[in-house]
Amino acid sequence: MKRKYFSFYLASAVKGETIKNKQMKLNTKIIHAGAEPDPSTGAIMTPIFQTSTYIQSGPNEHKGYDYSGAGNPTRTALESAFAVLENAKHGLAFSSGVAATDAVMRLLKPGDEVIASSDMYGGTYRLFSKLWADFGIKFIYVDTTKTVNVNNAISNHTKMLWIETPTNPLMNITDIKEMADIARSANALLVVDNTFASPYLQNPLDLGADIVMHSATKYLGGHSDVIMGALMMNDDELREKLFFIQKTSGAVPGPFDCFLVLRGIKTLHVRMQRHCENGEKIARFLASHPKVKKCIGRVLKIAKVTKLRNSKCMTLAE
Ligand SMILES: Cc1ncc(COP(=O)(O)O)c(C=O)c1O
Repeated sequence: MKRKYFSFYLASAVKGETIKNKQMKLNTKIIHAGAEPDPSTGAIMTPIFQTSTYIQSGPNEHKGYDYSGAGNPTRTALESAFAVLENAKHGLAFSSGVAATDAVMRLLKPGDEVIASSDMYGGTYRLFSKLWADFGIKFIYVDTTKTVNVNNAISNHTKMLWIETPTNPLMNITDIKEMADIARSANALLVVDNTFASPYLQNPLDLGADIVMHSATKYLGGHSDVIMGALMMNDDELREKLFFIQKTSGAVPGPFDCFLVLRGIKTLHVRMQRHCENGEKIARFLASHPKVKKCIGRVLKIAKVTKLRNSKCMTLAE
């Protein structure tokens, strides 16, 4: 049996067959995301292409890569994996989650307004309020868990809705589909920081978001040994703009880090399943413990949310 599998992989490598990600179920997709046998050797795992530059047979005549700031084969494999995980057409990798967020902000111009969740990762708030606000971008922070607040904050200058759901650390949940409807009618982009749900629990692009952002440092990497960020999107023009920003501002991850995240992703489903089970047990234990005076509803709600992992959107349980 083992031999059979081996020869299947060998045949795939020899014939250069591609793995058809779209036909795979979630767990299989997670394991095989971005994996293509290396065409030069047949290696089943993506090699670490530890190179900054590439030989050119003539000026601008190369095999698709000229400088690793713009592209590197290990990063290309990871970027395809990012896309597969979020049912996206495109993925882009950055040197950190914050660098990915920073790249998204570079889509804006002075005078543009961003409506952002009042509760979100502190580093994102710091980036918005201490750096980007100085360049003429106006940030309006509202409680996005209540759609009415977002509707009230929309103006002619709104160019982006930035939501994080669930939030770090309070686990507040915003309805992605409702936000997508508002963004569409305001002709604004909806960006979702999906770090805490991970693609195992939620796929914002399927719900109408334009860009998904991840701190791949967390669940995608999964082993606390790498800092990295990811953006996923479907729109080709948006991908070109963000690719240009990635290449031009240079906040790209190195090939070894890309390899680590490619490897980390392979166990995403197993780790997330265990996180969900453990979280639910702890929440139930705390809620029924006589010494726990108040168990904030949120904890129980997360426990219920984890059960919805096959649904398309994390929502608060009744
Ligand atoms: C929800 C969320 N978004 C973004 C970030 C920033 O990511 P990084 O630390 O990879 O720059 C973090 C980091 O903790 C986070 O928790």
